[in-house]
Order: sequence, then C-alpha cells, then structure tokens
Amino acid sequence: MSFTLNVNGVAHEIDAAPDTPLLWVIRDHIQLTGTKFGCGMAQCGSCTVYLNGQPIRACVTPAVAVQGQQITTIEGLESKAALAVQKAWDALEVPQCGYCQSGQIMAAAALLEQNPSPSDDDIDLAMNGNICRCATYVRIRKAIHAAAKDLA
Ligand code: FES
Ligand code: FES
Repeated sequence: MSFTLNVNGVAHEIDAAPDTPLLWVIRDHIQLTGTKFGCGMAQCGSCTVYLNGQPIRACVTPAVAVQGQQITTIEGLESKAALAVQKAWDALEVPQCGYCQSGQIMAAAALLEQNPSPSDDDIDLAMNGNICRCATYVRIRKAIHAAAKDLA
C-alpha cells in the first residue's frame, strides 16, 4: 500500500506492505541507516526514534500506523539538548562498538528535554530500556550529567 511518512521534516511517499515495521521503512526505503536493528522485539532500544517528540521503538511500530505524524531519527536530531548530548558523547568518548549509540543518544536527549537536571536514578530509569553490549553505561551516565551541565 502507499502512504506518506514524515521523517525529519521531509515527506516521503512509501509503498510497502501494511505490516512493514517503521524501522525497515526508515532504513531500506528512506536510506537513513543511523537507526539500528538489535532485537526486533522492543527489548534493546537500538531502533529508538521519536514519534511527535516522544521515543518509540521503530522495530515494533508498523510504519503505516504513524503516517502523517512527525518522525525524528538520529539524523534529524537538532534540539539544544540533542546537540549538548552529542557534544558530551564526543568529549567523553562514550561509544565503544557504537551499535547501540544512536538509540542511547535519542533516549538521553529525550530525557534532558523533560528533565534538565536528572539524578543518577533518573538517568538509570530513563535509560533502562537501552541495552549496550559493550557496557558503556558509566560513560553514558557521565555524559548525560555533562550535557545537563552544559545546558544549565
Ligand atoms: S531493535 Fe527495536 S528495541 Fe531492539
Ligand atoms: S557501544 Fe557497543 S553495544 Fe553499545
């Protein structure tokens, strides 16, 4: 079926089966490959994108269900919080293999949008659904604190 998907402010005409996950439309149809496939079961967070500004799991979201709404991927992140997060990620060299990091950055930026001064517990709670097999969690937490300080 055909439908329109709004990704990073650009409208894309998509022709895909009705049950095609948003993740595959973003990666294969629109060719934005920063959003990653990890588990495919809403368990790891590597496919995190925003739907109208809120993080969702693109692997379990049918693309057709979000037609006409605002999707943001890692390539389209441009809020002050997102830029502060990316700067802190660079400065503290957070990524190891890097595979999970798009999702981590999306989740971290969403947290700072809602809570500009998160505690360790707030960070652990907000980042709980984003798994990192390289266990970069300590650096992630430090980088979120650094980004929050930068934004203050
Ligand atoms: S790939 Fe979507 S949550 Fe793991
Ligand atoms: S940096 Fe390797 S999985 Fe997170």
